[in-house]
Amino acid sequence: MAGLGTDLVKARNLLSEGSLVAIPTETVYGLAGNALNVDAVASIFATKKRPSFDPLILHTDSLGKVSGFVLEVPALAKKLADKFWPGPLTILFKKKSLIPDLVTSGLDTVAVRIPNHPLTLNLLKSIDFPLAAPSANPFGYVSPTTPQHVQQQLGESIPYILDGGDCEVGVESTIISFEHEQPTVLRMGGLAIESIEEVLGKVQVQAYSSSAPAAPGMLKSHYAPGKSFVLIDSAEAFTFPENDQFAVLVFDQLIPSVPEESQYMLAPGGDVREAAKGLFGMIRMLDAKEEVKEIIALKVPEKGLGRAVNDRLRRASATE
Ligand code: TXA
Ligand code: MG
Repeated sequence: MAGLGTDLVKARNLLSEGSLVAIPTETVYGLAGNALNVDAVASIFATKKRPSFDPLILHTDSLGKVSGFVLEVPALAKKLADKFWPGPLTILFKKKSLIPDLVTSGLDTVAVRIPNHPLTLNLLKSIDFPLAAPSANPFGYVSPTTPQHVQQQLGESIPYILDGGDCEVGVESTIISFEHEQPTVLRMGGLAIESIEEVLGKVQVQAYSSSAPAAPGMLKSHYAPGKSFVLIDSAEAFTFPENDQFAVLVFDQLIPSVPEESQYMLAPGGDVREAAKGLFGMIRMLDAKEEVKEIIALKVPEKGLGRAVNDRLRRASATE
């Protein structure tokens, strides 16, 4: 079992000696290591069983520090950073050579984010290196949004989990690239596209693809081995599956024809942010229920964080 607590000195000491620490962020928990220490970065990949072609995000606490890791900060990127950092936004920059190639899987860009969690911001302020941190789950599984999720899956492999409570946003950060001066969203996430467009005007959004992901790590999820996961557009599209051991994930309204005890509501208040916050916990819960053999999810409204929720549901239901 990993230690669990709020001891920042302990976390800093472990990270300084090359060990890994799970850290809270507003999106999901991260599995953090010193990004400038290649051995620490290698153990992140090993601990997650993550393929080395899937690059990591750097976490730091100020735009000043970001300048130390990247060749330049384009004007539009600066505008977004000023407005949304700290926050659920990851920006791609051309990297400086001090960032190890292992962090970026050999790419010449590096993903950077200033997370918005008081404990982790204090930790980042106290260290003189950036933290490389993917989500703290085994590769292919849904991201952890509580310290208990991390403990259950990685507790035997890491020494310490910084306990920052439940994640407020619940889905991973939105990733944006400024290649060729063209803002392109590569992953929909915790910052709504609408909010980005208020600052930049219309942006391109890389369409969902299960086989040719824009961000190298954007592959389908295999979080529920042995269970079938089906995504449908609306309650009207629901038909009873052959096997009656199913669960239905609904947004804010029950389907009248389906027994209430088979239905799980993501957002009783009808807010897409509520759905985002509870999504991964709900999926874990259903995954753990032996009596549930099939999960049928209904799309949530395609606006705000609902787009990120639908994206994760699509990945979960992808069969190839
Ligand atoms: O909210 C988050 O972003 C969380 C917390 C811990 O910060 N982190 C997270 O990391 O979700 P991870 O490793 O699970 O997802 C990072 C994604 C991957 O899909 C990866 O392919 C993409 O970011 N990525 C990283 N560097 C990239 C780069 N240089 N170019 C394109 N995609 C990149
Ligand atoms: Mg991840």
